[in-house]
Amino acid sequence: MTSNCSTDKKNENLDLKTHWELVYLNKPNEQLGWYETDLTPTLKLLEKTQLPKSASILNIGAGNTTFIDELLKLKYHQIIATDISETALTKLNRRLNSKDVTYITDDLTKPTKLINLSPIDLWIDRAVLHFFTTNKQQNTYFELLKSKVKKQGFVILAQFNLQGAEKCSGLPVKRYDAKLLKEKLGSDFKLIDSFDYNYIMPSGNKRPYIYTLFKRVN
Ligand SMILES: C[S@@+](CC[C@H](N)C(=O)[O-])C[C@H]1O[C@@H](n2cnc3c(N)ncnc32)[C@H](O)[C@@H]1O
Repeated sequence: MTSNCSTDKKNENLDLKTHWELVYLNKPNEQLGWYETDLTPTLKLLEKTQLPKSASILNIGAGNTTFIDELLKLKYHQIIATDISETALTKLNRRLNSKDVTYITDDLTKPTKLINLSPIDLWIDRAVLHFFTTNKQQNTYFELLKSKVKKQGFVILAQFNLQGAEKCSGLPVKRYDAKLLKEKLGSDFKLIDSFDYNYIMPSGNKRPYIYTLFKRVN
């Protein structure tokens, strides 16, 4: 198995914002190593939340994700997409052209705009947390999460699992299982569901993920 979730290795030495801007500038959505046409695992966890259509949903590191298309089809109308890449969010905005989505360009490891966001009902992150390999980055991420998810709110985290690739988009990743994610979230969050899932990249390669759903109980 190759150790990358994308064939794009040429940006390795650039600063991270530039790396992600170039990824989205240089590749059509359908060729990204995380492009999804089958949203079944995420939709299964979303359904378990039983959140009303008025729920505020924060899609972390949304990129140009097709998940928001599904949220709009389901009639959710308070959707926030955030990403470090302005290019990604501009592409997403152009594609969706919806008044039900707002866009925030910010760096999760140094948030300046997200800290002012009102509390939300659902935090959803597919393939973003795993890029944060230092304790400092992870602590900043989980502090933000804990300050933004409402009591009785939900968290969906889908990351490379312990058998997963060691790199994604040419960058090293920290791999997780449900226990490690539970430890990071702490006792205020209850694990509702988790499963392993083999995502098939556009190239046909497999990428094993851990999918988890947590509920904030305190
Ligand atoms: C592998 S892609 C996943 C995109 C999307 N979640 C999906 O499933 O299609 C990782 C995303 O995280 C974003 N990202 C990486 N580092 C970030 C950071 N420090 N702050 C915010 N977003 C970041 C990238 O721009 C990219 O869109």
